[in-house]
Amino acid sequence: MEISDSLLAALGQSRHIVVFTGAGVSAESGIPTFRDALDGLWTRYEATQLASPEGFENDPALVWGWYEWRRMKVLRTRPNPAHHAIVGMAGLSPRMTLVTQNVDDLHERAGSPGVIHLHGSLHEPRCFACSLPYAFPPGIPDEPEGGRRLEPPRCGHCDSPIRPGVVWFGECLPEDAWRKARQAAQDCDALLSVGTSSLVWPAAELPELAARGGATVVQINPGETPLDGWADFNLRGKAGEVLPTLLAGMRKAG
Ligand code: OAD
Repeated sequence: MEISDSLLAALGQSRHIVVFTGAGVSAESGIPTFRDALDGLWTRYEATQLASPEGFENDPALVWGWYEWRRMKVLRTRPNPAHHAIVGMAGLSPRMTLVTQNVDDLHERAGSPGVIHLHGSLHEPRCFACSLPYAFPPGIPDEPEGGRRLEPPRCGHCDSPIRPGVVWFGECLPEDAWRKARQAAQDCDALLSVGTSSLVWPAAELPELAARGGATVVQINPGETPLDGWADFNLRGKAGEVLPTLLAGMRKAG
């Protein structure tokens, strides 16, 4: 893929770059996205049952088992060239803020510091009732493809079920993370939106906030999204291919 000189110039002149990622950045690590037509999680499963407080109350074992399957998949895989290229870009930029909607820890394992998680983490469960954090036993769970019914552990303090530490439909984003993400989007000179369908609000507002503040908005996605019209540059392709190419261009230009 050819990266234009004007894009490289905009990135080279940026004093603060925001990278905003979604499920597509982890797709090449073998983690399914949510909305891709063939293997997206929400095309195979009922989102309201698996990703809402009501769904958990209705059937905690179904929900807990499904998240344990996803946690296993994350623990068994590794960061891909997209995660690594973001680390490389941070090394070239005076300031980078990395904001993710992903609940995996692949950015951290690639070496990105201070990742802002807007939708929580698979690795930080807590009590459904009193929110006391729960520590997983060490090791990787062994779960069948697609998950199975599995009773959640109980809270050591109040004996209520432990829930996954992710943000569900109908829940607010973590306040501190959302404030920092908005501030970064308003302050940055360039925002890279990578591998997100730009459909889930309020997270999808970030690129628009950046664009309204005059930042250059770059989208990296093999498909079309509602961001296409806002983005100054649409780089159509897989994150694991486009980001390393972009990084190589930045290195050459810098
Ligand atoms: P989606 O599944 O909605 O979108 C994934 C996007 O990644 C799509 O636009 C794909 O075209 C793109 N994609 C697929 N493979 C890619 C690749 N190799 N490189 C780059 N892009 C690729 O995932 P999100 O936008 O992250 O929320 O979804 C947002 C939120 O919806 C998630 O955080 C989750 C879900 O409900 C919660 O769990 C709260």
